[in-house]
Amino acid sequence: MTLFVIGKPIKHSLSPTIHNFWINKYKLGIKYKKLEIEKNLLPSLIENIREGKIIGLNITLPYKQDIIKYMDEISHTAKDIGAINTVFLKDNKVYGENTDGIGFTRALEKKKQFNFFNKSIYILGAGGASYGIISQLIKRKVQTIYVANRTKQKTLQLLNHFKSKSKYTKLKLVDWENLVPASDVDLIINTTSFGMKRGQTIKINTENLRDSLILVDIIYSPKETGLIKLFKKKGFFCMNGLSMLIEQAAVSFELWFNISLNNEDIEEVKKICEASY
Ligand code: ATR
Repeated sequence: MTLFVIGKPIKHSLSPTIHNFWINKYKLGIKYKKLEIEKNLLPSLIENIREGKIIGLNITLPYKQDIIKYMDEISHTAKDIGAINTVFLKDNKVYGENTDGIGFTRALEKKKQFNFFNKSIYILGAGGASYGIISQLIKRKVQTIYVANRTKQKTLQLLNHFKSKSKYTKLKLVDWENLVPASDVDLIINTTSFGMKRGQTIKINTENLRDSLILVDIIYSPKETGLIKLFKKKGFFCMNGLSMLIEQAAVSFELWFNISLNNEDIEEVKKICEASY
């Protein structure tokens, strides 16, 4: 039996390394493979799941939204985000879930015992990753979320999308050209892809920040983006996107196999991933 991660391009995906490690550790006798496919093949792949020929899928760029229309049912979270990253058969229905946001919150809760309740969080980016994270932050009753994005229209769209879903959390627009987070901010998250190429560093003012501020850059390659380097130099705690990647994978694994992974499972695979790139 097989699982696939699908996308285009897919060759740099770490998901097979992560899942095959756990599959072997728990002796499940299954293969997890990467598959680069064209959009027109999505329906036939989903048919294979319906017929039980494939156990499930992870979906990555650029198909996280496109695939929704082929699902029989999707979770509330996936609806909230408007994207799915995990597919499997549930009660004979092809079911879509999104584990990206919960992967993010779990990573920080484990690493720093971070409690999201009533926190102020400053988010860079208004793409798919930002939607996933914000949906979880709202569930955890964050007090204020500031959002800045290069294309202002997309920030407005995002704020509008979450306005009715966030009765407790206040959502505020920030100008991308003037990133000056204030001393009330507990956590800054970069969800943009700016920083993946060496030499790219987001221009952000760090003068007002409190000592306990945490920076998370969800990019994991390079391991240290320009942004992480800058914040590290100023003495702030920083985390890259590898823990989030592994935690979202762990949630998918639990959904497919009903196996709850422990900290040792997570840490072992993290070491393997870190050594692989
Ligand atoms: P993902 O699903 O990974 O979030 P995405 O939906 O394509 O991917 O979003 C990419 C994010 O990175 C967006 O916030 C994008 O900003 P725009 O909406 O202005 O495109 C941001 N981004 C990409 N390249 C950028 C750059 N050179 N400078 C600033 N932001 C950038």
